[in-house]
Amino acid sequence: MTYTLTTPLYYVNDRAHLGSAYTTLACDAIARYRRLKGESVLFITGCDEHGQKIQRTAEAAGMSPQAHCDAISADYRALWERWQISNDRFIRTTDPRHQRIVEQFFARVEANGDITEGRQQGWYCVACEEFKDDPREAQDPECPIHRRPLEWRDEVNLFFRLSRYQDQIQALIQTPGFIAPESRRREVENFVAHGLRDFSISRVNLPWGIPVPGHQGHTFYVWFDALLGYITALLAAEDEPLLDTALARGWPASLHVIGKDILRFHAVYWPAMLLSAGLPLPAKVFGHGFLTREGQKMGKSLGNVLDPAVLLERCGTDAVRWYLLRDIPFGDDGDFQQQRFTDLVNNDLANTIGNLLNRTSSMARRWFDDGVPPGQDSTRSADSSHPLAVAATAACRTFEAALEQLDFRQAAEAALQLAIQANGYLNEQAPWSLMKREGTRDQVADDLYAVLESARIVGLLLAPLLPDLSSRMLLQLGQTPPQSLAAAAPDQPSPSSWVDQLRWGGLVPASTLPEPVPVMARLELTEDL
Ligand code: MSP
Repeated sequence: MTYTLTTPLYYVNDRAHLGSAYTTLACDAIARYRRLKGESVLFITGCDEHGQKIQRTAEAAGMSPQAHCDAISADYRALWERWQISNDRFIRTTDPRHQRIVEQFFARVEANGDITEGRQQGWYCVACEEFKDDPREAQDPECPIHRRPLEWRDEVNLFFRLSRYQDQIQALIQTPGFIAPESRRREVENFVAHGLRDFSISRVNLPWGIPVPGHQGHTFYVWFDALLGYITALLAAEDEPLLDTALARGWPASLHVIGKDILRFHAVYWPAMLLSAGLPLPAKVFGHGFLTREGQKMGKSLGNVLDPAVLLERCGTDAVRWYLLRDIPFGDDGDFQQQRFTDLVNNDLANTIGNLLNRTSSMARRWFDDGVPPGQDSTRSADSSHPLAVAATAACRTFEAALEQLDFRQAAEAALQLAIQANGYLNEQAPWSLMKREGTRDQVADDLYAVLESARIVGLLLAPLLPDLSSRMLLQLGQTPPQSLAAAAPDQPSPSSWVDQLRWGGLVPASTLPEPVPVMARLELTEDL
């Protein structure tokens, strides 16, 4: 079974911002974790390139929509590469193969009697690409999200008969685990309880979209086309653009990760569209929260947008990944605070984790011939009752259980706690004092072995969350970092030994320890990011 996992397909009206980086980093951690466990993963990201918003943005920039999309989507692709995102696919909805998939899907929905013609009247937010529900009476209504005026629309469109799926969607929403976290599930439940209305899936007079077959003058509403990008993305490079071929590559999706603002599309409209086409439904939709900066909404007008490219360049991928995954409960809103960011990175990564490794391997090298000290058999055995062995086993259990729940914060804390315990143990045992006494060499060797072994496990646990730091730690211990990258042939599970490596006792006595270099530099930010 393939674990298919998606980020939203990002609009190309603008370059990536911290919100898009947040979702993508979280998905990357999940994809890496699953691969490390030996699962076959298909990690999809990409760009959503049609619709009025994109058309207008391109016009304003004096570019053709296609040229504009090419430029911005290339930016996205390059950015994810620099962040070391391990996506297996990057889909663009202007890919000609996507049009073929949309046509085939639409044919199924139409054959099922779910397409009708109707008159669409209402207030539209171009930035959301969405009709707003209730502002009919208001004068000069504006979008509550974008604070921009809504536009009145009155046109003949094709409609999807969403109302037909009321009961099925209602039941789906009750399915445990389909929508997470629970607070988001309740939002959707509320929305559905008010009764589902058919929604328009085409636009007239909008050239920048996929033409609706058999309905001249209509192009598909951008959301109808975009959601199907998840299916087009399944196609391998050599595949013909056939719906069934794509589906066989990894449908249904195991997980759609999205921000809370687009929950309705994923948890209501999308499943209904799939039901209509007779296709299986995704297993889970996770709606995460919104990021603010120093308590304020990020926006161009406020001039406080955090550019992920700048952040990466100045702070590095480990620091940002750590802060976002460790500090913000996944699902809740989160606030980016520069001081807190610096403090967490310096305390957790540079001091606690980095120094643990550095000072322990320096002592080991100095006193034990540049190699791993010989721990006692009882300390090294997989079921050792050494306090650090017990702590490591518990940390691994907590870590896995947390990631299964997409609780990155708890997973990160489990790894960090193990490092804290190992530091505590080292301070208690004080091998630097012991070494000054006679007959204590075996004890020191055993202590250092246990601490180094704990550091190895911390390094391994960090592999899905902070792949770079994890590799540096493991190399520092003379180990080979595990593979968690996109596989060359992603539908073949890459054999993984991560789970085996997590077992206590993996360090081999007398194996070489390379000369220590700091694995994590401190962040010294003198000005605002
Ligand atoms: N194109 C649609 C998605 C189509 S999926 C088939 C779209 N694109 S978007 O670029 O506007 O938004 C992408 C994601 O970024 C959404 O999940 C949205 O919730 C998220 N975020 C936008 N601003 C954000 C923050 N400030 N913080 C966190 N996530 C944010 O919607």
